[in-house]
Amino acid sequence: MLIEARGLTHRIGNRTILDLASFQVVSREHALLLGPSGSGKTTLINILTGLVTPTSGDVLIDGRAMTGATAAARDALRRDKIGLVFQTLRLVSALTVRENLSLAQNLAKGRSDRSEIDALIARVGLSHRADARPRDLSQGEGQRAAIARALCTKPALLVADEPTSALDDVNAQAMIDLLLESAAASGSTLLIATHDHRIRPRFPRAVELQALAMAT
Ligand SMILES: Nc1ncnc2c1ncn2[C@@H]1O[C@H](COP(=O)(O)OP(=O)(O)OP(=O)(O)O)[C@@H](O)[C@H]1O
Ligand SMILES: [Mg+2]
Repeated sequence: MLIEARGLTHRIGNRTILDLASFQVVSREHALLLGPSGSGKTTLINILTGLVTPTSGDVLIDGRAMTGATAAARDALRRDKIGLVFQTLRLVSALTVRENLSLAQNLAKGRSDRSEIDALIARVGLSHRADARPRDLSQGEGQRAAIARALCTKPALLVADEPTSALDDVNAQAMIDLLLESAAASGSTLLIATHDHRIRPRFPRAVELQALAMAT
């Protein structure tokens, strides 16, 4: 089991923003996380990736405990297993697209491979923008750069939060093609949060989060 979560709840103030009895993803079984805006998709991703500690419940990633571990252990588990594409892209603004990928590889593996990076930049159609800084990219280009950065470490689990929201129909389908092909090539499992129903038909499995009551 690549992701195994049990009894997850998350409360902020007197609001319960996530309540999920169980959530599992088997290795190489890609899954979509659906649900209306505010239903807790980003919150769940932050919990699964160890960025947020849930109010209750447990998360195991590839058999290793994410919840209950120290911050350093959570960082190490994330670095070893997970590639993340944030809703707000969080590329390093002082670095070019290519340098962002080199940094990610160096942090994850202690080395970087220029030809591998350039091949990936070409795959996302950004060869002509490899030396550009994030603020000079269009929104769709930024999204493609963020996806390339997440893929360049060949993570066991690639988690993407709304990767197609800024893209037109053609580019949204191309992005899903890229994610599925790259996942197949590197043996990664995809977990994609979205409310983009254009991509629903491309995934056999979808988990739908419900909008919770305002206060409980
Ligand atoms: N740090 C926080 N403090 C207070 N409320 C929060 C916080 N983070 C999230 N929430 C609330 O929790 C709910 C779930 O938020 P979340 O970002 O997980 O939703 P989402 O499904 O990702 O939405 P979207 O599709 O708009 O990205 C929302 O009502 C949000 O306002
Ligand atoms: Mg969100």
